[in-house]
Amino acid sequence: MNQDQLKQAVARAAVDYIRPKLEAHAIVGVGTGSTANFFIDYLAEIKADFRGTVASSEASAERLRGHGIEVYDLNELDSMVVYVDGADETNPRLELIKGGGAALTREKIVAAVAEEFVCIADASKWVDCLGSFPLPVEVIPMARAHVARELLKLGGDPVYRRGVTTDNGNIIIDVHNLKIDQATALEAQINGIVGVVCNGLFAQRAADVLLIGDKDGVRTLKR
Ligand code: 5RP
Repeated sequence: MNQDQLKQAVARAAVDYIRPKLEAHAIVGVGTGSTANFFIDYLAEIKADFRGTVASSEASAERLRGHGIEVYDLNELDSMVVYVDGADETNPRLELIKGGGAALTREKIVAAVAEEFVCIADASKWVDCLGSFPLPVEVIPMARAHVARELLKLGGDPVYRRGVTTDNGNIIIDVHNLKIDQATALEAQINGIVGVVCNGLFAQRAADVLLIGDKDGVRTLKR
């Protein structure tokens, strides 16, 4: 199976996993990226089983609406049964790096509200130690140089992601060459830099469930 087929397999597995949790009033949180796009396409097949969705990006909202699936403003809702999203890296503790698609802040907000966070990933995303994938940090534009200097002090190599503006009107700095063994502490430390909106470490709110696909099939890991 190629990588796209693995992404399709985990997206299909996610629909099978969440289906028993759905009822007429249920809201499903939906992530961003190519794996999440496959999930959206399969979710459309069961759209009669739940009330609607919250999307973690404008791109996902548009794809959901294209399938005739209702997309709600998160502020209209007080609960969400599940959030399904991809990742750029996951470690065995189901701590993640996300934000390759620049949607990290909305992804983290939706994950925070969801009762359960289901991560879907092909086996290339599995690592023992987070940090080979550059850590995305969403930054207020006027703070770019200041935040870059602070990230250098943490031992990383910050690179401005040129030409990218997030759905929130901010910029992304990707931090290369970090070896992240204390993900929760680093997540808090980076979020404490003035001008940082959010960083792509999902450790304080790691995934609850990981559906990971390789040539032998899809495995379910729980924290
Ligand atoms: C977007 C994300 C994505 O989940 C992550 O980049 C993985 O993307 P893909 O499913 O295309 O490999 O965090 O901000």
